[in-house]
Amino acid sequence: MTSLLTPVLPSGRPSLFLAPMQDITDLPFIRTLSNIGGPDIFVTEYFRVHIHSRLDPYILRSITENPSNKPIIAQMIGCDPTELARTAIELKKHPIAAIDLNLGCPAPVVYRKNAGGGLLRNPSQLNTLLATLRESCDETPFTVKTRVGFESADEFHKILEIFKNHSIDLLTIHGRTVKERYQTPVHSDLIKLAAQTLPFPVIANGNIVDTQTGLNFLNQTKTAGLMIGRGAIRNPWIFKQLKSALNKQPTQPVSGRMLLEYIHTLYEETAREIPDFIEDKHVQKMKKYLIYITQGHSPDFEFQIRRVKTRTQFFQTCSSFLDHDSPTPSLPNENSRLFCGFSQFLE
Ligand SMILES: Cc1cc2nc3c(=O)[nH]c(=O)nc-3n(C[C@H](O)[C@H](O)[C@H](O)COP(=O)(O)O)c2cc1C
Repeated sequence: MTSLLTPVLPSGRPSLFLAPMQDITDLPFIRTLSNIGGPDIFVTEYFRVHIHSRLDPYILRSITENPSNKPIIAQMIGCDPTELARTAIELKKHPIAAIDLNLGCPAPVVYRKNAGGGLLRNPSQLNTLLATLRESCDETPFTVKTRVGFESADEFHKILEIFKNHSIDLLTIHGRTVKERYQTPVHSDLIKLAAQTLPFPVIANGNIVDTQTGLNFLNQTKTAGLMIGRGAIRNPWIFKQLKSALNKQPTQPVSGRMLLEYIHTLYEETAREIPDFIEDKHVQKMKKYLIYITQGHSPDFEFQIRRVKTRTQFFQTCSSFLDHDSPTPSLPNENSRLFCGFSQFLE
């Protein structure tokens, strides 16, 4: 199955994408991941599009200064066809692999304006938008990232019919409805149906937390690839491990010290982007990543890290749990608020 995006996808094995995550998958995070293998393709955080919008200069830097030698897709969120088309034309001036439309954001402030996941409630508006963007992207690949419905997964068949009518170059499906947000199992049967039905590559997303969950998701859906978000914050080697597993090679476990080094790199990379650096404020920002990284480790790790205030306390706590060469837990806790639902891929 070929599309305009095929030339940048790896041949002979499924493609591995880093999921876009607002305030996380920025230039420092891309730099950090590039040094340790990373995905085949990156996607930017979304560019907000409305009548007064201009390309966000900070997000744009992850395209113009992309240090990874890997392709990067620019994602947009909005609902106005004219403004989205204008923004697509601006984005095309930059070195992007594709332009992506977000049809999944579950934040009420977004979907109430009929953007993100809200567009799934408006089939005719969605139809118009897809046609407009296909035309303005022209020779530039046009991709879409969707959920399986707004209120109910029963809506998916109708949504699939809309996608079928457009020349999309790749569709990523986060297998939940907008109302299911992030915590449920994913509807892998619907992703499989999409992969069987659509004439362009489909990528499966949601609940991949380690090699096994990724491989099982692929087996269940037979998609052209996987997209991983929270699992890659927790374990950025997940792409390298999956590539080894897909090539039938042994995977290298992640030791405590590897994780510790990753946290140090992330700290330095994110710190050097802040013009008026304030250490204590930066420690608070680092907690955003650590909340994911600590899952599956001793509960004391998360408990203590939530309470640190200074850089010294932060790294002392990290070292006290990670300064060792033993493998770290490959899975987060199944009942954790941030990762629950993935046991469907452990069976
Ligand atoms: C903090 C956070 C920010 C996110 N921001 C975006 C975004 O900007 N664009 C988007 O399409 N999805 C966004 N998502 C959704 C992810 O891309 C992904 O679809 C979702 O987390 C499920 O995949 P996972 O289980 O591998 O994390 C975000 C998710 C999280 C947790």
